[in-house]
Amino acid sequence: MHIERTTPDPAALDAVLSDLASWQQDGGPVQLHPGDLGWHMRFGPDAVAGALRIWTVGGTAVAIGFLDEKSLIRMCVTPSANQDEELAEALVRDLEDPDSGVLTGDRVVVEARSGAALRSLLHRRGWVDDDPWTPLVRDLRDPVEVTDLRVEIAGPELIADRVAVQRAAFDNSTFSADRWTVMSQSAAYRHARCLVGYDSQDNAVAAATVWSAGAGRPGLLEPMGVHRDHRGHGHGTAITLAAAAGLRDLGASSATVATPSSNEGAVATYASAGFRPLPAVTDFALTR
Ligand SMILES: CC(C)(COP(=O)(O)OP(=O)(O)OC[C@H]1O[C@@H](n2cnc3c(N)ncnc32)[C@H](O)[C@@H]1OP(=O)(O)O)[C@@H](O)C(=O)NCCC(=O)NCCS
Repeated sequence: MHIERTTPDPAALDAVLSDLASWQQDGGPVQLHPGDLGWHMRFGPDAVAGALRIWTVGGTAVAIGFLDEKSLIRMCVTPSANQDEELAEALVRDLEDPDSGVLTGDRVVVEARSGAALRSLLHRRGWVDDDPWTPLVRDLRDPVEVTDLRVEIAGPELIADRVAVQRAAFDNSTFSADRWTVMSQSAAYRHARCLVGYDSQDNAVAAATVWSAGAGRPGLLEPMGVHRDHRGHGHGTAITLAAAAGLRDLGASSATVATPSSNEGAVATYASAGFRPLPAVTDFALTR
């Protein structure tokens, strides 16, 4: 089997998104999702394409890696290659080799929630557990309960509110109207929605973006946040419920999210919106 590795051209992003979407399965791991690439699209398609590494066999993608940072890659392996030892060996070789152009730095981290053979080989090669993440899933077969929060789908006219909530929810956010526009014009956003929640005084208090991977597949919430001046009033739970309902409208079979286990507020908020926490998962770290 000849395994090739490429960095895709921006024109190939549609195909990458569709491969990644087809690998999302209910009951499978909460893993790299088209929505993760979609949320990164705010930096433009060149940045997303440049951060991708695709492993192919005979022109077909078998593993996709997304460099969240130069020393951190989020991997997704096609379900049909879950037990593929030869692929696992090729992947680990590339992940460990500083000259491969995949990971940069002395301490490197790999998120590998799918690919049993890859996970097992990383363990055997001495990669150690990094910080734990908590995946959470909510089934969407039944309708989602409605709350008092007024929630709007953010089109261009509500972008100032969408951006303001993002910046007030995440300390280091660099989100802007321009970045929203770039993101909303991307192929990924065709299957996404930004939601903004307004309290009874019409303050924009909460926001979320949801990403479908197609009908009958798990969808993703990324990101979700409440304005720091408006926390503790149930808005986190309410916007999360609205996000789950939005994903249901888009045809998703379940709503998924993963958050650092240390983010207790986020884990509590998702649980309070009917998400079931799955056992914590750790990334793999290697000092080389
Ligand atoms: C996490 C966050 C969304 C919570 O928003 P909020 O409006 O205060 O949440 P709610 O008032 O709806 O509270 C929901 C539940 O979480 C609990 N909770 C909220 N913040 C908490 C905290 N810091 N520690 C522990 N529990 C917390 C509440 O007690 C409540 O629990 P209950 O339903 O069992 O009573 C908000 O703090 C935030 O925006 N944080 C920064 C962004 C972020 O981390 N987003 C999530 C990851 S993408």
